[in-house]
Amino acid sequence: MLGLKSLPLLAFLLVTVCAQKKNIRYMPFGDSITEIVCWRGLVWTNLQTDGYTNVSFVGSGTNQNPAGCPTRTYDKHNEGHSGFLAIDIANKKQLVGWLQANPADVITMHLGTNDIVQKSDKTADILTAFTTLVGVMRASNPVMKIIVAQIIPCTVGSYTSQINALNAAIPAWAAGLNTTESPIWVVDQNTGMSSTDLRDGVHPNTSGDQKMAAKWYPALINALKIIEASATTTLSKKEIGFIS
Ligand SMILES: *[C@@H]1O[C@H](CO)[C@@H](O)[C@H](O)[C@H]1NC(C)=O
Ligand SMILES: *[C@@H]1O[C@H](CO)[C@@H](O)[C@H](O)[C@H]1NC(C)=O
Ligand SMILES: *[C@@H]1O[C@H](CO)[C@@H](O)[C@H](O)[C@H]1NC(C)=O
Repeated sequence: MLGLKSLPLLAFLLVTVCAQKKNIRYMPFGDSITEIVCWRGLVWTNLQTDGYTNVSFVGSGTNQNPAGCPTRTYDKHNEGHSGFLAIDIANKKQLVGWLQANPADVITMHLGTNDIVQKSDKTADILTAFTTLVGVMRASNPVMKIIVAQIIPCTVGSYTSQINALNAAIPAWAAGLNTTESPIWVVDQNTGMSSTDLRDGVHPNTSGDQKMAAKWYPALINALKIIEASATTTLSKKEIGFIS
């Protein structure tokens, strides 16, 4: 028969089991370059191949791939919103509700293209919006792991200098907001991406999707490993708590 003294141990075991079963939640966040693209499917496939079947993609969107995507069956949840500006998402506080509905442990953000193309927003104003968005992420989850893109080129129109200016400013901006518990990693999605990687001058085609997935993937794996390491630390702290 189980004595009362066994109850704390049982409680600990239940906590452990529940914690292990909880999937890591990844939110792909951005505009159409996150929503109507094929790279999310490629990232998901890479995760399955590497045994990361415990990662759930989260977000309100479940859009199908555009025609011709190599991967059809994957976790399509994402928070990519075609045509959206970083400045609007920040000012309208839209990410607040999105993260309330779908909390995340790790997030990738590719934003700024629409700010530049639609409104010619200045680098400083886009970065102010990014700062607001990082604040929203951390208010939702104080240990949010944040991966921010230096954005891909746009080869229609004449936006290269503005995109380059934003991309050049992103590393120092990110370093200024970096914390140990909620790190920001910058991923250069611009270098190596050319007009032949874009189906319409804006969105990646097959080769562009492969390049984007290959850039996101190591940063995502790095974040997943850090999330797992901190989960283990938290559990051993709980265990010590029960013993003392
Ligand atoms: C998730 O899967 C990876 C890869 O198989 C593994 O290393 C990790 O321990 C798993 N994490 C959890 C919390 O189950
Ligand atoms: C933020 O800190 C992490 C370590 O916690 C580091 O890997 C990363 O490069 C830093 N990010 C920036 C933009 O400096
Ligand atoms: C990508 O699109 C560009 C421009 O439409 C085209 O030149 C290139 O062949 C395409 N590449 C692939 C792999 O689809």
